[in-house]
Amino acid sequence: MTSSRTDPAPIRPLVAGNWKMHGLKAQLAEAATLRAALEGALVPHGIDVMICPPATLIMELARLAAGTRLAVGAQDCHWLPAGAHTGDISAEMLHDAGASAVIVGHSERRAGYGELDHIVKAKAEAALRAGLAAIVCIGETAGQRRAGLTLDVAARQLAGSLPEASTAADTIIAYEPVWAIGTGLTPTTGEVAEVHAFIRTALIDQLGVQGREMRILYGGSVKPSNAAELLAVPSVNGALVGGASLKAVDLMGIIAACKV
Ligand code: PGA
Repeated sequence: MTSSRTDPAPIRPLVAGNWKMHGLKAQLAEAATLRAALEGALVPHGIDVMICPPATLIMELARLAAGTRLAVGAQDCHWLPAGAHTGDISAEMLHDAGASAVIVGHSERRAGYGELDHIVKAKAEAALRAGLAAIVCIGETAGQRRAGLTLDVAARQLAGSLPEASTAADTIIAYEPVWAIGTGLTPTTGEVAEVHAFIRTALIDQLGVQGREMRILYGGSVKPSNAAELLAVPSVNGALVGGASLKAVDLMGIIAACKV
């Protein structure tokens, strides 16, 4: 079979761990184990791996991961570069601390802090301004899915949260059904395929060729036992992993299940 000139180059998968508000310094031992495992021959080199620790551990993790395949991300940022915003951290500060990416618009921030699409977009723009990749999270609640609004929510969040200047090199989408996060529940592979195909089409409409090549991660109760089937779904270009990223052995199980 010959591939047409419009076929995109294969999209390099990313497995990103989101530690959320978990991890004192001792947790870095898991990152060290992961780093060592990534140097082993068993992990295909065509996969990117990232840990997004709490902000307090970014500098230390960046030191630990320097010169290795392990990338360091952050979990949130302010949209301004600096200012009188007690308790906030700018994208520039995260970059300065050694992060190369930042999650924006996670449902825990959308729900817990009232972050609307325009705020998520401003944060994603801040990430790009600071030289970080933006991992932009979208996804429906259980009620929205029951009401048949899953694709409408995805369309609205993509239209409202994605910077116009986003490229496949600096922006990653994470589709995370809110009802699947931390619950052990996952959509069927058919449901994942439907949403990811919809997101791919929307990205192409919005961003042209950049949208064709942009990574779309699946997130929500990914674990070693379900990773292979979720990661085999077309247009699933990796995973954003919460609970199962806290143990290196679990994250390695997910990485091993990743198609390249
Ligand atoms: P979970 O979290 O893997 O624990 O469901 C995923 C996420 O919130 O990114």
